[in-house]
Amino acid sequence: MTVVGVGADGWAGLAPVARRALAAAEVVVGSTRQLDLLPAACAAERVAWPTPLLPAVAPLLAAHADKRLCVLASGDPMFFGIGATLARHTAVHVLPHPSSASLACARMGWALDRVTVVSTVARPVERLHSALHPGSRVLVLSEGEATPAAVAELVTARGFGASPMTVLSDLGSPDEDVLRATAATWAGRVSPLNVIAVECVADPGARLLPAVPGLPDDVYEHDGQITKREVRALTVSSLAPEPGQLLWDVGAGSGSVGIEWSRVDPTCRAIAVEPRADRADRVERNAAALGVPELRLVRGAAPAALADLPTPDAVFVGGGVTVDGVVDACWDALRPGGRVVVNAVTLESEALVARWHAAVGGALTRLSVARAAPIGGFTGWRQAMPITQWVAVKPAGPESGEDQ
Ligand SMILES: C[S@@+](CC[C@H](N)C(=O)[O-])C[C@H]1O[C@@H](n2cnc3c(N)ncnc32)[C@H](O)[C@@H]1O
Repeated sequence: MTVVGVGADGWAGLAPVARRALAAAEVVVGSTRQLDLLPAACAAERVAWPTPLLPAVAPLLAAHADKRLCVLASGDPMFFGIGATLARHTAVHVLPHPSSASLACARMGWALDRVTVVSTVARPVERLHSALHPGSRVLVLSEGEATPAAVAELVTARGFGASPMTVLSDLGSPDEDVLRATAATWAGRVSPLNVIAVECVADPGARLLPAVPGLPDDVYEHDGQITKREVRALTVSSLAPEPGQLLWDVGAGSGSVGIEWSRVDPTCRAIAVEPRADRADRVERNAAALGVPELRLVRGAAPAALADLPTPDAVFVGGGVTVDGVVDACWDALRPGGRVVVNAVTLESEALVARWHAAVGGALTRLSVARAAPIGGFTGWRQAMPITQWVAVKPAGPESGEDQ
């Protein structure tokens, strides 16, 4: 199968090799808009993708398995495109066209390798929060004509209203258009096919949110049940996130640990488990406000709520530690080689992690944080409750748990 990238300039913009592939095809699959770009002389049977597209991919490939098949993709098929999806099903021969990001960078004079690309196509625009850093250049792939206004509002509310914002629409077509404003002054109307280039400029006093774990406690909405900044930084460090890995944050509270795990890399995923409805609502709001709206929330209590969740690479237990079966369920579910981190605050939870440590090993660490605070006219140390942190790596091979 050949996947042909096509631009807004249609047939006229295709390289000879792409034209030959389409001319030789027996079946061409694409969106109605893409199929309409083909000349009448292109005699192949034309099949439009149904909606939703993903469930249709495997049956459609099977139905045309014995034919010379071409699939049309917009721009570069391997850049947020159908080509990457098809490559998971079958061997593909890809003929790329410049992507929307390549064209936008060409128009902006930006180095493509230095921009952060955020797609809002079928994804929440709040993902942009974690890409806003002073001096960063961000390209937003738009969902449609309403996206520029949503981006302008989010960027301005985050304290980057002065950022130059350029909306490039219908790139590569005769209708190509470029509108410039700042995020705070954006008021344009554009076609649905657009990308947005944001050059991040922080307003004076803007709250900056670096990607490293240990964000200030007050960037979270919380009711006091939050793993405090210093302990959180050490906790995420102990969890040791790697790109693509999945965390269970059990007893998520405000969601801070799962959120900071997810902010380490756009491919890191987290499931927050929280039984209290008010806290679960906060987890959702915090995740959206801090740029990881795709964090999955399970409303329920462990261990029952853990059944049927996908296998984690790491588990953090911040609540429900002494509830019967919670640590056992986490340990059992963890993939071999995965990490478990349990923060114990009470004598009872400390006794439990000590038993687990004796049974399966790992490291026990005592964390004690004091913050300077006013005492009358003086300043003194205000000691937070000490925390016993147990970190263990599940051995590869046969089951090695204990009876608790
Ligand atoms: C100390 S807070 C965790 C703080 C959290 N790591 C944060 O930074 O926001 C403990 C949380 O565990 C939750 N919890 C208690 N028992 C639980 C259980 N069996 N399953 C899941 N969560 C539980 C509580 O509702 C509370 O929100």
